[in-house]
Amino acid sequence: MSSDIHAERILILDFGSQYTQLIARRIREAGCYCEIFSCDATDEEIKTFAPRGVVMSGGPETTTEDTHPPVPEAVLALEIPVLGICYGMQAMVQRFGGTVEAGQRREFGHAQIQHLQGHPMLEALGEDATVWMSHGDHVADVPEEFEVLAETESIPVAAIAHREYPWLGLQFHPEVTHTPGGSRLFEWFVRDLCQCHGLWRPQAIIEDATASVRAQVGDSGVVLALSGGVDSSVVAALLGRAIGEQLHCLFVDNGLLRKGEGDQVMETFAALGIPVTRIEAQQRFYAALEGVSDPEDKRRIIGREFIHVFQEEAEKLPDVRFLAQGTIYPDVIESAAAQSGKAHLIKSHHNVGGLPETLHLELVEPLRELFKDEVRQIGRELELPQTLIGRHPFPGPGLGVRILGEVREEYARLARAADHIFIEELRAADLYDQVAQAFVVFLPVRAVGVMGDGRRYDYVVSLRAVETQDFMTARWARLPAEFLDRCARRIINEVDGIARVCYDISGKPPATVEWE
Ligand code: XMP
Repeated sequence: MSSDIHAERILILDFGSQYTQLIARRIREAGCYCEIFSCDATDEEIKTFAPRGVVMSGGPETTTEDTHPPVPEAVLALEIPVLGICYGMQAMVQRFGGTVEAGQRREFGHAQIQHLQGHPMLEALGEDATVWMSHGDHVADVPEEFEVLAETESIPVAAIAHREYPWLGLQFHPEVTHTPGGSRLFEWFVRDLCQCHGLWRPQAIIEDATASVRAQVGDSGVVLALSGGVDSSVVAALLGRAIGEQLHCLFVDNGLLRKGEGDQVMETFAALGIPVTRIEAQQRFYAALEGVSDPEDKRRIIGREFIHVFQEEAEKLPDVRFLAQGTIYPDVIESAAAQSGKAHLIKSHHNVGGLPETLHLELVEPLRELFKDEVRQIGRELELPQTLIGRHPFPGPGLGVRILGEVREEYARLARAADHIFIEELRAADLYDQVAQAFVVFLPVRAVGVMGDGRRYDYVVSLRAVETQDFMTARWARLPAEFLDRCARRIINEVDGIARVCYDISGKPPATVEWE
């Protein structure tokens, strides 16, 4: 068996489905490397990638219109397994002269498939015939070369197979968790049909990354901005193992972090034997933010200050030629989409600006091929603590965008104290892992409160907790009233300066997760 984790690969052609990244994750889970290409990839690009199989995603286009993205001929010429999902199947049907019709209305939700033919792909789904549908068009007539494997109550063609080649189509979406047997179907496709052997495993990925980093950097130094978030922490752990003392981690405390965050980062990496330089830059950030209340200005200033501080510190280090970054595969896809003008397909992301080219450093990006859940898995293998791996996302500008309007040191202190109580209570009630993100927002207005015998005017905070898979849409978390009551009491009693606690019940859209 090859030790090259990229030796076996699956190609995903993206026709614009919101589920394309999920397809890639299912294939990775089945133990095979895969990449996402746009559906207009050239025949040359497809052949050069040398996939063992191709998955064609769904998409917003319709084959019932004159112009629609076709199946690239190279996909068929390779004579390898092909799985068309939703639009991917319809495009294949169209290519062979079958017909696709627009439905009366969109079918969206669960359906039961009925098998018309025994086929290992459908057997892989297991006993439960429940699948997830999300389509407007459906296949009405199947070309002669194909046979129909399954139908549902509402559509005559739910699954097809070519009679001669391993080319398959599904109207439903096996990549979403709402199709209970979906992961098994991908496992069958990847392992049995494409004959991939599970080379893509966490330990093998770590070994591969270690070898490539060593080859790339030689005996030069590498500097890393360690934020304490999952991605930069995993990069630090990985590089610490790969290049030991050649790695220099810089942790910048900008005064906008959560309670105890700096100490936690220092302790975690000390335990792993990875030295970290802590830079206390709080006052510098507060000074730069004085009098600034526009959120985008605040973001820019925080980003700019960070770059200045980092640059000053990095220049003090000897022999540094490389800058390590925690770029992950979804970032790579997003920037490719932005460059190709297809950014509308994917959410724009807003990390604090890149480090300037004036640093003259080459990039080391050992997580470039990985999805977030793979990064977490590798972090666990590298013995990073679960509290760090399972942490909710925290925006680059930190409390800077959770303190509405002007940022002041006093506001940061109050926001941090209240946030700590909320998070502590969530953990104590076993609710932390049930929400995707939770935090406190500080409102610089004063409301009346009675403390003892006196009236006081103190600040207001809002608790925010959301449930979401992808952060593009989010639902406010239905936290129990008793729980919210406990949080509010503790915050008002324990944080001197806060008189009221609200709970944010806005969904995204139209609201965003953060308040600024
Ligand atoms: P929104 O507020 O856009 O947030 O619904 C979606 C996700 O993005 C995070 N977020 C940011 N992350 N810099 C970041 O690194 C930012 O400026 C920023 N703004 C929002 C937010 O916390 C949520 O996870």
